[in-house]
Amino acid sequence: MRHLMSPLDFSVEELEKLMETAGDIESNPQKYAHVCDGKKLATLFYEPSTRTRLSHEAAMLNLGGSVLGFSSADSSSAAKGESVADTIRTISCYADICAMRHPKEGAALVASQNATIPVINAGDGGHQHPTQTLADLLTIHSLKGRLGNMTIGLCGDLKFGRTVHSLIHALVRYPHVRFVLISPEELRVPSYIRTDVLDQQNIEYEEVVRLEDALPSLDILYMTRVQKERFFNEEDYVRMKDFYILDSKKMELAPKDMYVLHPLPRVNEIAVEVDNDPRAAYFKQAQYGVYIRMALIMTLLNIEV
Ligand code: NCD
Repeated sequence: MRHLMSPLDFSVEELEKLMETAGDIESNPQKYAHVCDGKKLATLFYEPSTRTRLSHEAAMLNLGGSVLGFSSADSSSAAKGESVADTIRTISCYADICAMRHPKEGAALVASQNATIPVINAGDGGHQHPTQTLADLLTIHSLKGRLGNMTIGLCGDLKFGRTVHSLIHALVRYPHVRFVLISPEELRVPSYIRTDVLDQQNIEYEEVVRLEDALPSLDILYMTRVQKERFFNEEDYVRMKDFYILDSKKMELAPKDMYVLHPLPRVNEIAVEVDNDPRAAYFKQAQYGVYIRMALIMTLLNIEV
């Protein structure tokens, strides 16, 4: 039985296959409409979510399966003090596969160790968010036709942003990927990622504070929200929250073929006027999230078409 805790749980070849399946799903959705008939997906969300929970559910429904679950810790037995281990043992009796989001780093891993069904990590604290990374990889691949040979700017909350952490882990496996890490000093990429991933693998990167300095050299700009819920005090959050605002004027500094991605939700970091720029790809990215999660659910349930 397989789980998905980190994007590294799949080899580069397996990811390629997953993206191929997602592409086929996009072109021939009917072919996949009943492959999960009779199967159930449980979504166990101890933290707020719109896209991740509903796109997992949409993915399972599109495959002919059904869904059950909870969308906040308050409405589950976690509020009575039940452990993740006990909850997942129970859910294993009700569903064939589950997706879990939890505010604690490592919670999905604990679930996978106690489950008798495949567990998908749908975000564990400030640690990892592998299914968002699958959506990001599919988006980049579809827009640019490649995953290697490019300069990726990651901008915003690189300290607490789990989507950024997972994306870095995934992208360093492709040739000639260069990162520009754009953040205020307080929100730099954690040192364990800088030393254990970037430095150790000799990945080319630079850290800058000004977005304007980075824009002209980028193939992809990955914007992120300042992760309010992970701050220890409100004052620091307020000071950081509007540090970056991408607007049409700044977009003039970017290459014509640079795409803007964002895992969403957006707060203020991308002005709404940018949505009309043909380079804005964040809503397309949300759509790709459904196709890749369909491919993922099939793979974890060992369903071949
Ligand atoms: C992200 C998350 O939950 O980490 N959202 C998402 O799943 N698309 C990003 C965020 O909340 O900022």
